[in-house]
Amino acid sequence: MAKRGGTEYKSEMSDTPDPFTSPFGTLFGDHMTVANVVDGEYTYSGSAQPLENFSLHPATHVLHYASACFEGLKAHRQADGSVAIFRLDDHVARMLISIEKLRMPVPDGALIRQMIVDAVTADVGHTPVNPGALYIRPTFIGTAPNIGAAATPSNTAMLYVITSPVGDYFAGGIRPLTIFIEHDTPRTTPQFGMVKSGANYVMALGPTLDAKRDHVADQVLFATGGDVTETGAANFFMVDNERVITRNLDTSFLHGITRRSVLQIAADLGYEVEERAVTLDELHAWSDHGEMFLTGTAAVVAPVGKVIVRGDHVEVGDGQPGSNTLRLREALTNVQTGNSPDEHGWLTPVS
Ligand SMILES: Cc1ncc(COP(=O)(O)O)c(C=O)c1O
Repeated sequence: MAKRGGTEYKSEMSDTPDPFTSPFGTLFGDHMTVANVVDGEYTYSGSAQPLENFSLHPATHVLHYASACFEGLKAHRQADGSVAIFRLDDHVARMLISIEKLRMPVPDGALIRQMIVDAVTADVGHTPVNPGALYIRPTFIGTAPNIGAAATPSNTAMLYVITSPVGDYFAGGIRPLTIFIEHDTPRTTPQFGMVKSGANYVMALGPTLDAKRDHVADQVLFATGGDVTETGAANFFMVDNERVITRNLDTSFLHGITRRSVLQIAADLGYEVEERAVTLDELHAWSDHGEMFLTGTAAVVAPVGKVIVRGDHVEVGDGQPGSNTLRLREALTNVQTGNSPDEHGWLTPVS
């Protein structure tokens, strides 16, 4: 049993390493669900199997042409000890869009949904208490052995779901993040930013590593030509006592499910909600009186304490997590953990 922040985490598996001290995403459940796809037909065995390695031909399509997409969602331990998945159907819907944008055969959403529920049910005992969770990673890869298929989709594929007990995404828990604003290099191509594909992440890696090295930044906020969008793994928000502002949706960035949840919660709490373009000048000016935060399944609601914009190191407010940010974070996690009523039907019970 490990302790953290006054909450006790006790896995049902006594020899399980502690997700609160292990880096995010490095521990795994014991199971996976797998469906094989041949010429557009999906075949799922109907139950979870032990987590095991794959054997792939060196010419496998995904290894050469990045025919891959994934999802990231969480199952949360509820106040009554049960476990529920947060916004399952919304994540399934987004994965269907990603598969379609890869020009691969799109399955019935009910299949992905069932595979997620089966994987979580099999590994439910690994679900830590809040602020930990069981992170769920549905993944789709093109598996045809074909190195002449640069302009052809793979005719075979694999859809699988694995789980990972996790603590905080950002080491150090809730702390003010330093964000470097990148205004030249885009995160990815404008038509593909909304796709949750590994190719997008590797494109963002260079600017992110450079900013970490040169500016000791935690994340990069991409604002190509001054148009503020998202970071490498989270959406971006500005808030003050009255308003919540985030970039309006288009194809250039990921349509975060946490983003959508926070917008709904903010509206429920009486904030004015603005989904619109945000310029670098506005962001700079906002730091005088407002707050900024990131949202994501992994990041939850993560406060921004400093932005590095056009070479200036700008403190956001007093540099500490703001009260509106913490209020929204608490409201979100209360719904996720069953401590507030699930008014929007966001929880799918598993155990
Ligand atoms: C690039 C990017 N943007 C935004 C998000 C936030 O999306 P969500 O809230 O659905 O996790 C993520 C998280 O996974 C991400 O990788």
